[in-house]
Amino acid sequence: MTSMSTSSLMDRVSSLKGKVALITGASSGIGAGTSILFAKLGALLALNGRDLENLNKVAQQCKDCGAEEPLLVHGDLTDEKTVTKTVEDTIAHFGRLDVLVNSAGILAMGSIETTNLAQYDKVMNINVRSVYHLTQLCVPHLIKSKGSIVNVSSVNGQRSFPGVLAYCVSKSAIDQFTRCIALELASKQVRVNSVCPGVIITEVHKRAGLDEEQYAKFLDNTKHTHALGRPGEVDEVAQTIAFLASDAATFITGVNLPVDGGRHAMCPR
Ligand SMILES: NC(=O)c1ccc[n+]([C@@H]2O[C@H](COP(=O)([O-])OP(=O)(O)OC[C@H]3O[C@@H](n4cnc5c(N)ncnc54)[C@H](OP(=O)(O)O)[C@@H]3O)[C@@H](O)[C@H]2O)c1
Repeated sequence: MTSMSTSSLMDRVSSLKGKVALITGASSGIGAGTSILFAKLGALLALNGRDLENLNKVAQQCKDCGAEEPLLVHGDLTDEKTVTKTVEDTIAHFGRLDVLVNSAGILAMGSIETTNLAQYDKVMNINVRSVYHLTQLCVPHLIKSKGSIVNVSSVNGQRSFPGVLAYCVSKSAIDQFTRCIALELASKQVRVNSVCPGVIITEVHKRAGLDEEQYAKFLDNTKHTHALGRPGEVDEVAQTIAFLASDAATFITGVNLPVDGGRHAMCPR
C-alpha cells in the first residue's frame, strides 16, 4: 500500500461511480452534502428526507453535478411504513443497493431532570430505532452487493456532555450498533462504519432551539472546544463518508471515526 500513487487512491474513492446509494437526511446538512458529493462521484442516488421542497432542491444540485435523476423516497422514518417503502422503492427502481448512509437525526437539549420520556422517545425513535429498522431491511440487499454502511454518529457518542442527555445516549447506541453489526456482517463482506462529527455548521442546533445569538456564541466557542479552533463544514464530513463507503476503505470496518477537529481527544485543564 505504501507504493500506492495518489491517482490510484483517487481511483478507489471513485469506486462509488455507478454504485446505488440510499442516503437519509438528504434534505439538509450532512446528508445533503453527502448526496451532492456522491453525485459528483457518479453514484446513483435514492434520497430520503421529510421536506420535499428541500429534497427537490438537493436533487437538482445532484443533477447539476451530472448525476442521473435521483429517486426521492421522502417521508418520516419514525413511521415504519415509510421505512419499508423507502427500501422497496429503492430496490424496485435500481434493482440493487450498494451503500446505505444513515444521516437523518435530531438534537434535543435536556438533562435527566428536564427530559421526559416523550422527549427521550422522540430522539431515540429517529436517531436509533429508525436506523435499526432501515438498516435491517437494507442488509439482505447489501449482502448481495457486498456493500457498505456509514452511520452518522457524533462526538457526543464517545464523550459525555451535560444537557444533551438523550442525544448522547442515542449516539453511543449508534457507535455500539456500528461495531456489533460490523462483526455480524464481516463474514459476508459488508463493511459498517460511523463518522463521529464535532460541531458542523448545519441546521441541527437551531432546530434544537438555539436562537441566532446563541448559535453565533456556540460557533465562536469552538475556538476552545475543538483543537483545530473552528467548527467543521458539511463537506469535511461528506468526504469522510465517501471514503468509508468506497473501495478506498476496503479493510476498514467497525470504526467510529471522529471528524471533529480533535475534540474527542481533548480534556479540560
Ligand atoms: N451538525 C452537527 O454539528 C452534527 C454533529 C454531530 C453529528 N451530527 C449528526 O449528523 C446527522 C445529520 O444532522 P445535520 O447536522 O445534517 O442536521 P440537519 O441539517 O438538521 O439535517 C437533519 C436531517 O435529518 C432529517 N430528519 C430528521 N428527523 C427525521 C425523521 N423523523 N424522518 C426522516 N428524516 C428526518 C431531516 O429531514 P427534514 O429536514 O426533511 O425534516 C434532515 O434532512 C444527524 O444524525 C446528527 O445527529 C451533526
